[in-house]
Amino acid sequence: MDRFSVAGVVVFCLLLILSSSLAASTTKTGLRRNLLANGLGMTPPMGWNSWNHFGCQIDEKMIKETADALVSTGLDKLGYTYVNIDDCWAEIARDDKGRLVPKNATFPSGIKALADYVHSKGLKLGIYSDAGYFTCSKKMPGSLGHEEQDAMTFALWGIDYLKYDNCNNDGTKPTVRYPVMTRALMKTGRPIFFSLCEWGDLHPALWGGKVGNSWRTTNDIADNWESMISRADMNEVYAELARPGGWNDPDMLEVGNGGMTKDEYIVHFSLWAISKAPLLIGCDVRNITKETMEIVANKEVIAVNQDPLGLQAKKVRMMGDYEIWAGPLKDYRVVVLLLNRGPWRGSITANWDDIGIPPQSSVQARDVWKHKTLKAQFVGNITATVDSHACKMYILKPIS
Ligand SMILES: *[C@@H]1O[C@H](CO)[C@@H](O)[C@H](O)[C@H]1NC(C)=O
Ligand SMILES: *[C@@H]1O[C@H](CO)[C@@H](O)[C@H](O)[C@H]1NC(C)=O
Ligand SMILES: *[C@@H]1O[C@H](CO)[C@@H](O)[C@H](O)[C@H]1NC(C)=O
Repeated sequence: MDRFSVAGVVVFCLLLILSSSLAASTTKTGLRRNLLANGLGMTPPMGWNSWNHFGCQIDEKMIKETADALVSTGLDKLGYTYVNIDDCWAEIARDDKGRLVPKNATFPSGIKALADYVHSKGLKLGIYSDAGYFTCSKKMPGSLGHEEQDAMTFALWGIDYLKYDNCNNDGTKPTVRYPVMTRALMKTGRPIFFSLCEWGDLHPALWGGKVGNSWRTTNDIADNWESMISRADMNEVYAELARPGGWNDPDMLEVGNGGMTKDEYIVHFSLWAISKAPLLIGCDVRNITKETMEIVANKEVIAVNQDPLGLQAKKVRMMGDYEIWAGPLKDYRVVVLLLNRGPWRGSITANWDDIGIPPQSSVQARDVWKHKTLKAQFVGNITATVDSHACKMYILKPIS
């Protein structure tokens, strides 16, 4: 054998060892098979979650009022149907049978009663636990070691969605801890949307599709531009791996919480929509402002998020502070976002060959924030002037 074939054999053997050890480890954690088959999340989930606005200051009255508000504002009709309780809903101690106990001071009627109420409004109830010994607040237990019992409790209460956090764990990998809850949820027989929240620690996009309906790709969002835009960037890396039934999750919405300008919130909502991210409102919907409603209740933008193809848009071109994000929609349409991340207004052009439209195609453009179809037809490119920390979002429809 010459030097090259020796090297070839060595490389081949290394590959063999690597692939068999990977196969062994995925078999051990059960990730070879699709553990989760609940039929949920064929489009990204939509609803509300308590954390971004209320943190631990939650109680059953506020949750019920929020459910009422989702209905009275008409947000439910637009698809916002999950009412999700985050951390701090339970007592620190389990009962004498080891079950989770709703916090008496704040949820005296219990979670079953709350689920019945929320269901009576045509909505769904979500809850929160943690793949560790305590949740992140440390004010209640996590489900590590109690997965089957807790999943059964949630199913008996009528829970429809579980957000599963990653704090205070035992140091084992998420690929070991999360599938245990997946199996437990499947065993209950109740379809419960399973939202993995391991913060992107172990590239959950690579294995999350077999374990959950969505997976956080990032650490927690904060209500400011830098935090928001960097979550979108980190989440974009995994665009190829999102699909109906399993979505990348750059964290919940901050729209309406006051830390960004209206334009910045429009960028936030646009990026989440094109990224096929879960649309979980994070403000106080009981007194939602007209301005916030104009953003989160934009039907055309919601329709992009809920497009049946379920293909996540990508950053297709970067020109300093200017970026083009684009993705396919059904009926050969393309959604394009012209994003200005810089401090000054400027002109941004998207070229057909960057966004997946045949070069000679003539295209009609719908501005989904202005709710206007532009008069001109476009060939080869579309250009717009975009303010600082703002975007233009168009749906492009080839007409010839
Ligand atoms: C729950 O709180 C109520 C009112 O504060 C109290 O009367 C009741 O004894 C408490 N129940 C439990 C089980 O602690
Ligand atoms: C929002 O509404 C709740 C209850 O309806 C109220 O207690 C609270 O003060 C309101 N907050 C603001 C900022 O208006
Ligand atoms: C856009 O396309 C037109 C032809 O339709 C061309 O004349 C123009 O130079 C292009 N603009 C840019 C900025 O590429």
